[in-house]
Amino acid sequence: MRVIVCDHYDEMSKEAARIMAHEITLCPKRVLGLATGSTPVGMYREMCAMYKRGEIDFSGVTTFNLDEYYPIRRSNPQSYHYFMQEQLFRHVNIPEKNIHIPDGEAADPEKACKEYEAEIAESGGIDLQVLGIGVNGHIGFNEPAGSLVARTHLTDLTESTIKANARFFKSEDEVPKHAVTMGVATILQAKKILLLANGKNKHDAIRALLSERISTSNPATFLNLHPDVTVICDKEAYGENDS
Ligand code: PGA
Repeated sequence: MRVIVCDHYDEMSKEAARIMAHEITLCPKRVLGLATGSTPVGMYREMCAMYKRGEIDFSGVTTFNLDEYYPIRRSNPQSYHYFMQEQLFRHVNIPEKNIHIPDGEAADPEKACKEYEAEIAESGGIDLQVLGIGVNGHIGFNEPAGSLVARTHLTDLTESTIKANARFFKSEDEVPKHAVTMGVATILQAKKILLLANGKNKHDAIRALLSERISTSNPATFLNLHPDVTVICDKEAYGENDS
């Protein structure tokens, strides 16, 4: 696992955007796995700026998002559909038909999950997956548990994730109690993985990830099974005094 420690959030975001741009330049038909949350906002801002300056062309790119709340309307400003439109899609030239996000409105979520997996396979698989990490070590909405689920599935959110995400909603009660998420095997099948983390509250999760022990109580630790993971974090998430 490569670890890049940045001085601050902006540097982390620029470094991540630079890697994304490099991948797209090398192969304009890249299949990208995308993440939501506060962490990648700066990276998306930078990618939009690079697009405006003519430094990235997204016209051949395909995207698959990690997760979405369930149930939630796409038009809900807290949905990940809405987030992605605002942070990236409406600013750049990714063809709409190439954009995939798990369906928070699906009448039959289990069927929709199977279809999502099939679409990823049909695209040739994810080339580069971007991940944040939960304070509790979750990746996507694969929450700490006695066992993890391999493929895209409907899941319950843990109390700690509902509390962590309540900041985006009017109250904790409004946070959906479920989500559709790629599974751990879906994530591990990406050819490359880029995990971003900033802030002191991510320190414990990052330490567990870098401890090289694998446990379902910290789902991110399964990334130790993957041959090509780059962690980009700021000093606070890494822990300035740790070696
Ligand atoms: P955050 O969420 O970027 O909002 O901290 C990360 C995550 O839960 O994966």
